[in-house]
Amino acid sequence: MSALLDKTLALFSELPPAERFHVRARAFSAPLEAVAGRVPSGGTVADIGCGHGLLSALLALEDPSRTVQGVDPDPRKVMWASQGPGRLPNARFEIGTVERLAEQHPGGFDAAVVCDVLYLLPRERWPEFLRTVRRVLRPGGRFLLKEAEGDRSWKHYKCLAQEWVMVKMLGRTKAGGGLVLEPRSTAEALLRDAGFTVRETVELDAGYTTPHILYVAEAT
Ligand SMILES: C[S@@+](CC[C@H](N)C(=O)[O-])C[C@H]1O[C@@H](n2cnc3c(N)ncnc32)[C@H](O)[C@@H]1O
Repeated sequence: MSALLDKTLALFSELPPAERFHVRARAFSAPLEAVAGRVPSGGTVADIGCGHGLLSALLALEDPSRTVQGVDPDPRKVMWASQGPGRLPNARFEIGTVERLAEQHPGGFDAAVVCDVLYLLPRERWPEFLRTVRRVLRPGGRFLLKEAEGDRSWKHYKCLAQEWVMVKMLGRTKAGGGLVLEPRSTAEALLRDAGFTVRETVELDAGYTTPHILYVAEAT
């Protein structure tokens, strides 16, 4: 484990065991440091659908000159995030959606991350969700979209089965009515239609059983 991840997980040490376990499992099943490493230094970063705030915590600890704002519609998760990384001086968490963020802070962020959120929304909501992320960013702002790729591999089907358990059986993740993985060509086209230039598409699945993929985009 890297020193940064070790320090990040320590922020959650006061949470109840079930929440600590969830955060640790998340830390070892998703390449969050690789995502955080592509966020420009400094400035304001919106972590949209921040969950327990693990990625927010990595971003805030990695660069104290950054201000990280996490939002999530799930009040339980925002509470855990506030009690954990919310103690950092440069991280804050609110119950909310991307729509609310765009209304409150249009063009207000230098960067935005959406990490494993889109797949929980019905497919027909993806274009509007991405357009709203664009409204949150200043022109030229960086957008990092991390998803699992719908590539019809065994990892794709394992990921859907795992998420079905998390959403439908355990109720640990709140879905907005979807459980959808799309191929990279679809995601890239949607990003372009939403007003982004896709700078890089990065496969991050090596060493994981999920087809992690990261789109590095810029608000036009
Ligand atoms: C799998 S978790 C990912 C959490 C975090 N981004 C991470 O990478 O650890 C998905 C999160 O998306 C949130 N979510 C679901 N629908 C959302 C929406 N419409 N807007 C923002 N977040 C949403 C859920 O509440 C949940 O916390």
